[in-house]
Amino acid sequence: MANTDSHVTIHMAASLDGFIARKDGSVDWLETSDEFAGGESMAPGFVEAFLKTIDCYVMGSRTYETALSFEAKGFGWSYGDKPTFVLTHRELPRIRDTIEFYSGDLAQFVNGRLRPSFRSIWFAGGGAVSAECLRLGLADEVRYSILPVLIGDGIPFFEKLDRDVALHLVEVKSWKNGMVELRYDVRR
Ligand SMILES: NC(=O)c1ccc[n+]([C@@H]2O[C@H](COP(=O)([O-])OP(=O)(O)OC[C@H]3O[C@@H](n4cnc5c(N)ncnc54)[C@H](OP(=O)(O)O)[C@@H]3O)[C@@H](O)[C@H]2O)c1
Repeated sequence: MANTDSHVTIHMAASLDGFIARKDGSVDWLETSDEFAGGESMAPGFVEAFLKTIDCYVMGSRTYETALSFEAKGFGWSYGDKPTFVLTHRELPRIRDTIEFYSGDLAQFVNGRLRPSFRSIWFAGGGAVSAECLRLGLADEVRYSILPVLIGDGIPFFEKLDRDVALHLVEVKSWKNGMVELRYDVRR
């Protein structure tokens, strides 16, 4: 039975032309050097406090592989000690006790397993999984952080959506580094 208090969010950062990574999976363009005088600056501790509100992460295997390569390069693990569910049909290295692999029906997994146990469920990407989540009507919210850069080609935020998804704009924030954050509720 689904927990009615639970909330499923899809969040990623994208270029202005809607890509979350280059075709080869690289995300070097996430570091930009823009400055927007009218933008908000992040107060110290803002990110840490915000991350505490997230109860678990869900991601596709290709996003997990990017996280593995970041960790191998010494950039650390972005998901703290929160339970992290990786969707895959393959055998992948399990580098932390907090990681669990899942393969199969995503709707059954989210509604039957995650919603009863977690309040704030974050889909951290990538494009294939975020589209699957929307196609199945599982997402309550989409958070879209737009970076001030165009990269021309790449992996889209929502891969092959097969229908329109109506949204309701809830919040717009602009930051000093030129990033614009859009928050939408998914309309039922
Ligand atoms: N800019 C950002 O904020 C951001 C955020 C996240 C990711 N990214 C980038 O996006 C890229 C990855 O995105 P992507 O769209 O290519 O891939 P993805 O969504 O991360 O992963 C897709 C894979 O997940 C597995 N999968 C999906 N649904 C499943 C299910 N129900 N059961 C079992 N396995 C399932 C399948 O892989 P198997 O073959 O393993 O079964 C599928 O090919 C990476 O380059 C990453 O760096 C960027």
